[in-house]
Amino acid sequence: MVSESFPDPHPRRLLITGGAGFIGSNFTQYWCENYQSDRVVVLDALTYAGNPQNLANLKARDNFHFVRGNICDRPLVDELLKTEAIETIVHFAAESHVDRSILAPDAFIQTNLVGTFTLLEAFRRHFPRIAENNPLFLHVSTDEVYGSLNPDDPPFTEMTPYAPNSPYSASKAGSDHLARSYFHTYQIPTVITNCSNNYGSYHFPEKLIPLMCINILLGKPLPVYGDGQNVRDWLYVLDHCRALETVIHRGKPGEMYNIGGNHEVKNIDLVKMLCAIVDELASDLPVRPSEQLITFVKDRPGHDRRYAIDATKIKTELGWTPSVTVEEGLRKTVRWYLDNRHWWQPLLSEEYQTYYQKLYGNSVL
Ligand code: NAD
Ligand code: TYD
Repeated sequence: MVSESFPDPHPRRLLITGGAGFIGSNFTQYWCENYQSDRVVVLDALTYAGNPQNLANLKARDNFHFVRGNICDRPLVDELLKTEAIETIVHFAAESHVDRSILAPDAFIQTNLVGTFTLLEAFRRHFPRIAENNPLFLHVSTDEVYGSLNPDDPPFTEMTPYAPNSPYSASKAGSDHLARSYFHTYQIPTVITNCSNNYGSYHFPEKLIPLMCINILLGKPLPVYGDGQNVRDWLYVLDHCRALETVIHRGKPGEMYNIGGNHEVKNIDLVKMLCAIVDELASDLPVRPSEQLITFVKDRPGHDRRYAIDATKIKTELGWTPSVTVEEGLRKTVRWYLDNRHWWQPLLSEEYQTYYQKLYGNSVL
């Protein structure tokens, strides 16, 4: 089947890095479903955040190939680009959790900076082989590179100066600058997308929305940082996948595109919305109403107050807008976590409990 929105008769050959993670696996599923003639190769190191189960249904396909490996492994990347004749890289692989970057930043520098550099450099060397085939290096980044907004500030545009505040966002900012420099210096067709907080299925349990959802189902405390007034702009993951699809087809090399859900919500309001939805959809909750479980805990160091995206550019230049409201998206997400206990239960492993204890201490155990 060829996508109806973007008829594209020429089959592509894509390398998706980080395709076993949250957004990467949603995107890989989306792409394989809509572009069945394309060759899709996933390169993923399967860190704690990567889960081969997310792609298990694709294993039998002729056009799909999963490689367990590190983006910092240059010989491996060179070999894959060459033997698979890759034309498009969609680069998701990253260490992605701010709290982990505060506890242990080393892996963030290695994967996000050195790993992105390794991919860019390998793609530059590979480029002459595929120069005629509409090549693209799509670097998937975050709105966190822009820093924190005050309540009355206008949302981030592509012109907002970078001001990253955590080791995570600083490492992503550095990788964005590298991607930009490869276009300006070597004319390698890179495009950077900066998106807001995603949510949806296959989201690892330690991030806010899955954490709250699972803790409600288990009757555990719901740890809200600080005063709960921090604001995030929530984007349903499949809307993000559609935005990336649009950028792959219509994006202009050397450009940046902000992608946002146009749904700013305070953390405490979001957690209360989730409580109400889970109370409604789940039949056997240990604690009901689940709002009783909300527990304010010590704030995250350097916690950014507000993120908000102005997505006018991608709307006017490429024709993308988000289609899922936060209420709809949260309901779909809660429904998915209710129906997929077998997916998340094994992830609450000893390693996860150790991480949990280290981050939250005994206050919410
Ligand atoms: P995730 O943590 O769920 O998944 C990351 C994936 O990358 C995992 O499968 C992991 O195994 C893999 N990986 C990590 N290090 C690797 C390495 N060295 N080599 C190969 N694979 C490696 O992340 P996510 O939430 O899916 O985010 C994907 C991308 O989107 C990241 O670049 C992130 O910065 C960006 N982003 C995420 C959000 C969000 O809300 N989740 C928002 C904006 C931007
Ligand atoms: P998170 O999902 O970690 O995304 P990010 O920090 O990249 O925006 O967190 C989203 C918001 O929720 C952020 O303001 C931090 C807050 N938060 C809590 O209040 N409690 C928690 O247990 C977690 C994980 C996050």
